[in-house]
Amino acid sequence: MWVYELSEKEGVLEKGTREGEIEGKVKVKVLSSGINRRDIWIKKGLYPGIKYPAVLGSDACVSYENKTYLLNPNIDWGSNPMVPQETYSILGLEHDGCFAEHVWVTSDRLFKVPAHLNIEEAGVLGLAGLTAYRALCSNCKVTKNDRVFINGIGGAVAQNAMLFALAIGCEVHVSSSSGDKIEQAIQMGATAGCSYKEENWGKNYKKKEGGFDVIIDSAGGRGFKELINLCNIGGRIGIYGGTRGNITDLSPQHLFFKQIHIFGSTMGNDVEFHQMLELVKTHKIRPVIDTVFNIHDINKAFEYAVDKERFGKIALQHD
Ligand SMILES: NC(=O)c1ccc[n+]([C@@H]2O[C@H](COP(=O)([O-])OP(=O)(O)OC[C@H]3O[C@@H](n4cnc5c(N)ncnc54)[C@H](OP(=O)(O)O)[C@@H]3O)[C@@H](O)[C@H]2O)c1
Repeated sequence: MWVYELSEKEGVLEKGTREGEIEGKVKVKVLSSGINRRDIWIKKGLYPGIKYPAVLGSDACVSYENKTYLLNPNIDWGSNPMVPQETYSILGLEHDGCFAEHVWVTSDRLFKVPAHLNIEEAGVLGLAGLTAYRALCSNCKVTKNDRVFINGIGGAVAQNAMLFALAIGCEVHVSSSSGDKIEQAIQMGATAGCSYKEENWGKNYKKKEGGFDVIIDSAGGRGFKELINLCNIGGRIGIYGGTRGNITDLSPQHLFFKQIHIFGSTMGNDVEFHQMLELVKTHKIRPVIDTVFNIHDINKAFEYAVDKERFGKIALQHD
């Protein structure tokens, strides 16, 4: 079978082959896959535990015994729903991932595709949908009465979080570096939004629109204090990424006087994966796709994936 593999830091993905069987796993044919920020970090060499050659790709829609499935990218979460066990990993490092003709997985990684999704939508949902679900629903325990703020709506997890919160019935506001992305979010059901680039934006937005009970963030960094400013007393903040680096400007007083809960959140357990798919199925939620590339143009797709104007996932159609 063919694979696209990475042989060195910042290299291009080159076509290679893999032979043989993997005991305890089934070989499934990849119909479509999706690029995640994780793949971009790994390609740049900015991810722990990289081993070369690596076949990246955590998400896919696959075919096995004439049926179509969506892959759960979790490997070995373990029995504690709160945290994964030490052996936990994500498909696409260290196990060969989905940028390939076939992928080897245990059969319990195969989940039924919600009927309203097409092959490309199913192939980009797994990782970002799971991350959004755990941060928003399991950790922040969002309910329809919560006012929700999603920071950086250009992100794939952020977009899923917005769609999930809207489906649950929440009022959702967003931020972005781009007015166009705020406008697209409003078209999808958000109430309003603001730029996170302006000085004191959180304080000012709260004055204009009121505070928020649940805030979802992947930026961290200097500026995180604006999220604290935006937060209502007793509010919950779910953070799953650190695009802006270390949080350096946080006042403990603002945190404890406002009784704020901050939840660090990564991926999600298998029950949450199932619950996420149920939510998607019930509300006919469709993940946002910006562009579909052919898998054989994977290096072009990676170049495009870092384009800041992009709104939605990059899907890869396999032969
Ligand atoms: N812990 C986990 O399980 C997990 C899972 C998935 C992703 N992640 C991490 O989460 C981050 C986002 O990943 P993703 O795939 O959802 O998104 P992505 O497609 O990589 O997009 C990143 C988005 O972050 C936003 N952003 C950049 N600087 C920002 C700032 N200063 N304030 C607020 N937002 C800012 C931008 O939004 P605008 O374009 O709107 O400006 C950008 O579109 C990455 O660091 C990724 O590694 C973690």
